Amino acid sequence: MSADFTGQVTLDGPSGTGKSSVARAVAARIDAAYLDTGAMYRAATVAVLDAGVDPEDGEAVAGVVARARIDVGTTAGAELVQVDGVDVAERIRSAEVTRAVSAVSAVPAVRRQLVDQQRALVAAADAVVVEGRDIGTVVLPGATCKIYLTAAPEARAQRRAGQLGVTDDAEIVAIAADLRRRDEYDSTREDSPLRPAADAIVVDSTDLDRDQVVDRVVELAQQSVGVSR
Ligand code: DC
Repeated sequence: MSADFTGQVTLDGPSGTGKSSVARAVAARIDAAYLDTGAMYRAATVAVLDAGVDPEDGEAVAGVVARARIDVGTTAGAELVQVDGVDVAERIRSAEVTRAVSAVSAVPAVRRQLVDQQRALVAAADAVVVEGRDIGTVVLPGATCKIYLTAAPEARAQRRAGQLGVTDDAEIVAIAADLRRRDEYDSTREDSPLRPAADAIVVDSTDLDRDQVVDRVVELAQQSVGVSR
């Protein structure tokens, strides 16, 4: 019955919760499109860095992003991220982009531009899983099913270290510090701070493996449209 889901599943939460891999797997299970809004802010950051603009200079950042064409795909299995027609799918994951993206994504004009684009992409899909920070609160307040995925900070740092193949304790401590810095930045910015929507269901993944989280989100998505398993 999984193909019977229609509507939008929003998956918000801080970094390192396994959100992306959960969102992709859920999209595959319920036969939905998938939109990674973080990839859009990362692509905008590539444009800013390539233009040689300081990511903290909001006005200059807004100007560069307004002129950039940012394209992202909505198929879970095939990551497509382009800036002005150039593939940046790998570059958006670089440390340089990760360091600068919070500042770029805090610029209100950048958010307005990308939110408009996100809503248009969502409107084109019958069923879609959308991952980000403000999807349930700002981008799609009327979404069918809102999930806020969270996990204890230590578990998030361990998970991120695992993804990066890092085993050194000092490096894990540095990863934890970077996650805390980004959380702090993302949750305290004035425009669309990271927080659960009032009607979001909070899923804590600290003691769950990825498949258990996917099962739980699929179940919640199906319940939201009255589909029994
Ligand atoms: O999920 P991610 O790490 O790829 O997101 C990259 C950055 O973009 C993150 O620091 C917060 C920001 N972001 C945002 O502000 N709003 C979203 N909807 C998605 C991401």
